[in-house]
Amino acid sequence: VLSKKMQEALNEQINAELYSSYLYLSMAASLDMIGMEGFSHWMKIQAQEEVVHGMMIYDYVLRRDGEVNLDSIVKPESGWNSALSIAEATYEHEQKVTEKIDALVNTATEEKDNSTLQFLQWFVAEQVEEEANASDLVKKFRLAGEDKTTLFLVDTDLSKRPVLYNFPSNEKENSCELAKT
Ligand SMILES: [Fe+2]
Ligand SMILES: [Fe+2]
Repeated sequence: VLSKKMQEALNEQINAELYSSYLYLSMAASLDMIGMEGFSHWMKIQAQEEVVHGMMIYDYVLRRDGEVNLDSIVKPESGWNSALSIAEATYEHEQKVTEKIDALVNTATEEKDNSTLQFLQWFVAEQVEEEANASDLVKKFRLAGEDKTTLFLVDTDLSKRPVLYNFPSNEKENSCELAKT
């Protein structure tokens, strides 16, 4: 059974993961509006992944006979006007998420909750990936600068990220990939 403190902290993280998803969806919308469809596609998959993270914690809390309490999700920022500013905001956001995961690990340590400590190790490793991916994006868009051809190439490259599940808008293009997974 989870301690009250641990349960609250995990519920807060469910909320933080869903907020991340909402933030990335807001970034995807900005990218669609400035015509960067590849990066927008990448961002929508990022948004999907964050929902999966939230669901992993949701399932874990229930398996420990805890209570899932969903809170309201904060309104995400919007209105970005460049791929670089979005990449930078993503990197900053992921660093904040890493701090949150570290704080959760500390709570699990204080609560002497070894199961949760072990459960959280996946998220610790995942944050290394998330920060590395976001940092990569920043580097790519810094290199591209204002060069339209390079921006187009980077955008095309980002359009290749495999989907987790399909949106109506990419059903035609990706229906075969979905059938394979
Ligand atoms: Fe996450
Ligand atoms: Fe993330």
